[in-house]
Amino acid sequence: MALEAETKRIVSLFELSDDWLNKAVREYHSQADEGLRSEGTSLSQIPTYVTALPNGKEKGVYLAVDLGGTNFRVCSVRLNGDSTFKLTYNKVAVPKELMTAEKAEHLFGFLAKQIEIFMHEHHKDEFESIRSQTNKDEEIFHLGFTFSYPVKQLAINKGTLIRWTKGFDIPDAIGKDVCVLLQTELDKLHLPVRVAALVNDTVGTLLARSYTAGEGGHTLLGAIFGTGTNGAYIEKLSNIKKPIEGEYDDSTGEMIINTEWGSFDNQLNILPSTTWDSEIDKETVNPGYHVFEKRVSGMFLGEIVRRAVLDMTKNDQLSLFKDANSSSNDWHSTTDIGPAVWSAEAVGPGQRRHELEGTLDIYSSSLEDAQAFKAIAGAVGRRAARLAAVPIAAIVLQSGRLSDANSSIIDIGVDGSLAEYYPSFREMIYEALAAVDGIGPEGAKRIRLGIAKDGSGVGAALIALVAARMEKNRSVANAAKRKLDQVPGGFLDSFTNPQQLALGVTVLGALTAVGLWWARRRNFV
Ligand code: GLC
Repeated sequence: MALEAETKRIVSLFELSDDWLNKAVREYHSQADEGLRSEGTSLSQIPTYVTALPNGKEKGVYLAVDLGGTNFRVCSVRLNGDSTFKLTYNKVAVPKELMTAEKAEHLFGFLAKQIEIFMHEHHKDEFESIRSQTNKDEEIFHLGFTFSYPVKQLAINKGTLIRWTKGFDIPDAIGKDVCVLLQTELDKLHLPVRVAALVNDTVGTLLARSYTAGEGGHTLLGAIFGTGTNGAYIEKLSNIKKPIEGEYDDSTGEMIINTEWGSFDNQLNILPSTTWDSEIDKETVNPGYHVFEKRVSGMFLGEIVRRAVLDMTKNDQLSLFKDANSSSNDWHSTTDIGPAVWSAEAVGPGQRRHELEGTLDIYSSSLEDAQAFKAIAGAVGRRAARLAAVPIAAIVLQSGRLSDANSSIIDIGVDGSLAEYYPSFREMIYEALAAVDGIGPEGAKRIRLGIAKDGSGVGAALIALVAARMEKNRSVANAAKRKLDQVPGGFLDSFTNPQQLALGVTVLGALTAVGLWWARRRNFV
């Protein structure tokens, strides 16, 4: 009985009422607005310089790399131009010691090496033929760099690291341009690869989802629920009140914003805090930051459950894992229960006890033990899903699409292990969305959380494509400008001989190309 009562008490600490959800959505709106107005706010609301979405017609082969929380992926993406793509990739775990390396070059050197290995394995012929070209600039591989940490973006291919998250801690890299860090290491290996675009994984997910959704897809938001959590959405340029440095195309009137919602409510105005949340935060590399992420994402959920269960096993009044038949189940054995938390949710009691044995060395646990464990794991997972609904609801409401008759479905691309594998994670988000004023059950039915598998790789390839075109067109524009400068006197009066006429034609050709450039930038093709 004591176990049941204590389990209920702990479960209740993780419950979030519908009223709380509504209050949290209002708080998100206010912090999001603040982030669009000024720098240094809790929600960073980072302008990404990406001002249009793909329509599925894009074509070509591009490289993309993705430094996530746990793995480094190198991919090449063949965009077929019909909303389909072929992705080839290698994935390696980032060695633990490199996550906290002394020098940035140690980590980035490792990344460059993986790119070299990938090129040898999958693109040897192209690689060798490019190496033998004299005009290497023409034949270089363009690479989209998905770097999923808070970065102050300064251009499509330029961004300085604000801080590390998800267990990385290399102070030497803070404030440096991560594209330059990678390019330097690629150059040391003489690889014919140019880092053409820097992109957050959420931005990649949004773009990839738009590409596969094709024309009329109108994806609003790309979200990650994996090792970390974050979202990127399309915002009207007129709503971004803080200055956006550097060049960008404003013709669409919109820009993708990387919210960095992992840092929503760092000041803890409304976020729930159990003792375990506070303890965990203190032990991370970024205490006081990304506190929303520490309650929602895969890196932390198992740890919250572990600490809650551990405290229960230390309580002499409770029978948890202390039955006569499970005398070896003292709290020392309850060490790393992340995977068990997930499977505790997914399986029935018999299988669950089997999992407790297999993963945690807890033998002969009683049915009550397994039930208590499931209840705590379920409560932590459910709180995460209800928290996850807060930024989604706020962004959907702010977009105005629910009252737009042309937007019958509001499409959201999601990626990450929690979204994909945690049992009922998306269902619990839908349930919470239905409880939000202004959305309700009818509105929730119009919101589609669709898995955008491999989103960040494909999205990075798409941005590399845009960036490569912009770069090429910029050279054409510069060439046109140089030619214009050469035209003597009044432009039209000057075609008095065949040579000048030829020059005029070249200039007009270049100007047409510049015109096309602008047109393409508008249409993103
Ligand atoms: C962390 C990073 C963010 C990333 C997210 C998901 O929150 O700060 O940039 O998008 O993890 O990977």
